[in-house]
Amino acid sequence: MTSNIESVVTENRIFPPSEAVMKSATISGRAAYDALCAEADRDYSGYWARLAREHLSWKQPFTVSLDESKAPFYQWFSDGKLNVSYNCLDRNVEAGLGDKVAIIFEADGGDVTKVTYRELLGRVAKFANALKAQGVKKSDRVLIYMPMSIEGVVAMQACARIGAIHSVVFGGFSAKSLQERIQDAGASYVITADEQCRGGKNIPLKPAVDEGIALGGCESIRSVIVYQRTGGACTMVPGRDHWWHDLTASQPDICEPEWVEAEHPLFLLYTSGSTGKPKGVQHSSGGYLLHAILTMKWTFDIKPNDVFWCTADIGWVTGHTYITYGPLACGATEIVFEGVPSFPDAGRFWKTIQKHRVSIFYTAPTAIRSLIKSGENSPKTHPRNYDLTSLRLLGSVGEPINPEAWMWYYNNVGGARCPIMDTFWQTETGGHMITPLPGVTPLVPGSCTLPFPGIQAAIVDETGNDVEWGKGGFLVVKKPWPSMIRTIYGDPERFVKSYFPADFSGQLYLAGDGAMRDAKTGYFTIMGRIDDVLNVSGHRMGTMEIESALVANPMVAEAAVVGRPDDMTGEAICAFVVLKQARPTDVEATRIANELRNWVAKEIGPIAKPKDIRFGENLPKTRSGKIMRRLLRSLAKNETITQDVSTLENPGILDQLKQNA
Ligand code: WT7
Repeated sequence: MTSNIESVVTENRIFPPSEAVMKSATISGRAAYDALCAEADRDYSGYWARLAREHLSWKQPFTVSLDESKAPFYQWFSDGKLNVSYNCLDRNVEAGLGDKVAIIFEADGGDVTKVTYRELLGRVAKFANALKAQGVKKSDRVLIYMPMSIEGVVAMQACARIGAIHSVVFGGFSAKSLQERIQDAGASYVITADEQCRGGKNIPLKPAVDEGIALGGCESIRSVIVYQRTGGACTMVPGRDHWWHDLTASQPDICEPEWVEAEHPLFLLYTSGSTGKPKGVQHSSGGYLLHAILTMKWTFDIKPNDVFWCTADIGWVTGHTYITYGPLACGATEIVFEGVPSFPDAGRFWKTIQKHRVSIFYTAPTAIRSLIKSGENSPKTHPRNYDLTSLRLLGSVGEPINPEAWMWYYNNVGGARCPIMDTFWQTETGGHMITPLPGVTPLVPGSCTLPFPGIQAAIVDETGNDVEWGKGGFLVVKKPWPSMIRTIYGDPERFVKSYFPADFSGQLYLAGDGAMRDAKTGYFTIMGRIDDVLNVSGHRMGTMEIESALVANPMVAEAAVVGRPDDMTGEAICAFVVLKQARPTDVEATRIANELRNWVAKEIGPIAKPKDIRFGENLPKTRSGKIMRRLLRSLAKNETITQDVSTLENPGILDQLKQNA
């Protein structure tokens, strides 16, 4: 990631907002941005209270804005009541948007299905009734393991409607990961599909649920609801498993929302941390939805005629906030996309934008980088061959975007006309934290620029004091904000330790990223994680999680995992492995490495497969037995070791670890 920082630091291209954008943008001009920040500075909780009153529909108005009495378990709008699904659906229908298209579903094979707000409300109500008939109650945890589909959104919204807490697990995670999440969340229901369609292939989903439950310890599960996506073979366990269509067939399409307290958990979403076990990030209803709406309106400048497309999967937080909740709460028309950007060819994204006249497009740097490469290799899939004039705004999320990719995105996709919102945020933050606003911020490629109005982002040293602009440090947020993580489900101590550590006086939210501010503009640049978390293609992976998966293999004695920079995926996973048997020969090493990759795919999911695996008789250790990870990081990058190795117990081991298997 160092190369990225250097190129950003020397970046001097700057793209001020065009007059056309400034004229139409909801927040226009630096003065408007400054006024909002000043309002938040003057009366912090009053600022958020004003916004929560203006942008959310409350069943029972709140009287308290920020409640700090249980800090750092902050509460927002806690004596107010609302329903998230009501805010996303009913209120749009009541406002006359019943016939407006809510979702355009673009299937893997290119088939299109559209649903209006009225139809979506009806489908959510029917499914919510079906859940209730199955016995789902307020606060029950419902695990959702679904493909990208209208039904995926319906399942989440239906949980929200009845006050059940969903926990979506990305369809690429393994049976084992499902089991762990079911156990940790104490989930009593699973919603899944027979199969998912990706790149022209049907991939089974339901068997992973069966396998996960069969691994044991999932006695909490009462029923499994299966949406029929493909009609592929699917074994149903009598009494436990039910078809979605059977359960909904006779249900009425009206369902009174469950009015919940603003702090009622809307969802848990598991994400990787520095230690082995993924953590269940718990989000609220009111504060979370407020930020989803504000960022849709201010960052994406959503307008009634827009067609919004966020390419994320609903299994990640980006899909939660910018597919399931934000766009619908704003009454927008959005695309839900099934499949992959490379099928049937690498022009799929551009073709889809052209076909549906998409005006706002939000994707990840990894996708852009891979499409740059495909466009070079196969010129007919290059964006220039498509009519992308409907686009007016672009977004980037999930990892730092290198200036080269930024420029390509800007020129080739956005026609040098569309501003790019490089949005920095996290599963824990619920929505954008540091981002340009289209009518306000002059853009600098590779910088996420300035905090969203009201967000008190800062960079501090290890004692928690502000560092000067131009110097690197820890990215923190100085005040609680409405959409912040509320706790780690079932582990409040880990919540405090991870995000409000005592080293920072317990007052600052620690993001886990290194960052710096430009000495002149104060713009933020994210330098990457400072903990043992890797970012591979915008997916968060804990090194310890992958290490635990590796050592669970009977062949493995010891393993250490580090990241190394990768042109395509941002970071790549590099594993150093000591086998119980003798260090393998070259031919054997390749075979065992592949076996271990598949093992990790089974333990966690294919996204966690190490790209490099290197075998040694041992790992580089100090005399006290501590693995020297910084040496492993240098080895992974194929750097010549310049560090002092005199404290190393076994310097000879370094030579063994230079080669990939
Ligand atoms: C980590 C959070 C936010 C939704 C997707 C990822 C990195 C995220 C950016 C950006 C540089 C970024 C950070 C962060 N990250 N957005 N615009 N520029 N880095 O959510 O899985 O919780 O990962 O992604 O390292 O901490 P996540």
